[in-house]
Amino acid sequence: MNDVRAMLSPQERDLLRSLPEKFQAESILEIGVFVGGSTSYFAQGMDAGEIVCVDTFCFYRTIEDQPYQLQRWIENTNGWQKEKPNIRTIPLVGSVTTPAIRYFLEDRVCSFDIAFIDGAHDATSVLVDLSCILPAVRRGGGVVVHDHTEEYGVPFACSIFESAGLIEPVSKTDSVVVYHRTDKPWDDHVGAFVRGHFS
Ligand SMILES: C[S@@+](CC[C@H](N)C(=O)[O-])C[C@H]1O[C@@H](n2cnc3c(N)ncnc32)[C@H](O)[C@@H]1O
Repeated sequence: MNDVRAMLSPQERDLLRSLPEKFQAESILEIGVFVGGSTSYFAQGMDAGEIVCVDTFCFYRTIEDQPYQLQRWIENTNGWQKEKPNIRTIPLVGSVTTPAIRYFLEDRVCSFDIAFIDGAHDATSVLVDLSCILPAVRRGGGVVVHDHTEEYGVPFACSIFESAGLIEPVSKTDSVVVYHRTDKPWDDHVGAFVRGHFS
């Protein structure tokens, strides 16, 4: 498979390739896919399965350029899918905070083996991302967070879910932290604990 343009270091690309085997993943959720780089690196580590790809697809700032992010994601994904016909990719256009995507996650019968978070990096966005996706990640599955550095709100948002006992860190490579989803259920108590940090 040819490399697809990605906002990831070589070490991070290797890490993403290795994660499907580590978590026995057949179902991956990505928030923040840009033009499909991270999607392709997960696919390189899988033989079969499904990758759900959430993005606003309006990263480019000018109106003229905006349609091309999704177009490039489609072209790049089509490029490798000939070699991986048993991997299904589903692009979801819009923010994970939109009701449509929330309903999509709630309606799913299966749960995700890995969730990768690399969308907006402010603390509130990551809190919302984690609140939306954690109920849909299986116990023992991976929660993989990019740009986990002090220049962003990412470490703070993750620390809320760590202290709630929902995720535990497994490893750190460059700016990617791999957590595993603990056995603790997502219930109203946890929801209230997390919501308390929004106000
Ligand atoms: C750092 S890039 C993702 C890089 C990508 N994972 C890669 O490997 O190349 C961040 C992406 O998040 C998207 N984004 C920003 N805010 C978002 C949100 N609220 N929900 C979903 N995606 C968002 C942007 O459009 C952009 O494509």
